Amino acid sequence: MFELYLDTADLGQIARFGASLPVRGITTNPSILAKANSGLAELLPKVAEVLGKEARIHVQVVSESADAMVKEALSLQELPYDIVVKVPATETGLTAIRQMKARNIPVLATAIYSVQQGFLAALCGADYLAPYVNRIDAIGANGVGVVADLQHLLDRHHLASKLLPASFKNTQQVLEVLKAGVASITLPADIAAELFAHPSVEPAVNRFSQDWQAVFGQTLSFES
Ligand code: G3P
Repeated sequence: MFELYLDTADLGQIARFGASLPVRGITTNPSILAKANSGLAELLPKVAEVLGKEARIHVQVVSESADAMVKEALSLQELPYDIVVKVPATETGLTAIRQMKARNIPVLATAIYSVQQGFLAALCGADYLAPYVNRIDAIGANGVGVVADLQHLLDRHHLASKLLPASFKNTQQVLEVLKAGVASITLPADIAAELFAHPSVEPAVNRFSQDWQAVFGQTLSFES
């Protein structure tokens, strides 16, 4: 089943989209938590309150050696929440991912900028792969192309990793990765809002109201 995440620790936005959309959980990284000035002890209970205890929360390790990352992941797994451990897909990170998967820890390989790098993370057993679509575009490469090629390789080799593309700056990038067949996505709040904001929608809805009220006034549909 497709998984929709919000790439934010802003509780107001999480509550907003948690009400209007079937949000599976949130993705965070050290920059997002620092921006929200919110540690896990504060954030996790509040997210559970807003999205429900079953919400899945992706949390990135901040340790720098493989052994320390694994220890950090084990501690994260002791928390009473559905936590996926995010690990940068560096050489050190892949070493840690292999050890984490040997311990059945759910893992997302993050900071993916190339197909090759993502493919290696999939071979290491990462449950999710997070290519950074807009950041790839910003360095003159093709973010959507990386996602599409990775999805092709996952399918071709029957690898179980799910693509969870991140880093979006426009809704076209979102559409293109969805068309590539990804199993999940994480959206920043501003892009989630833009997905609703087609300029023709509001005029269409207003026209329905005007037409109705011109004939039926304030009468409700079932009263007409
Ligand atoms: O976790 C990575 C993702 O949040 C990157 O997004 O907008 O910082 O490129 P952005």
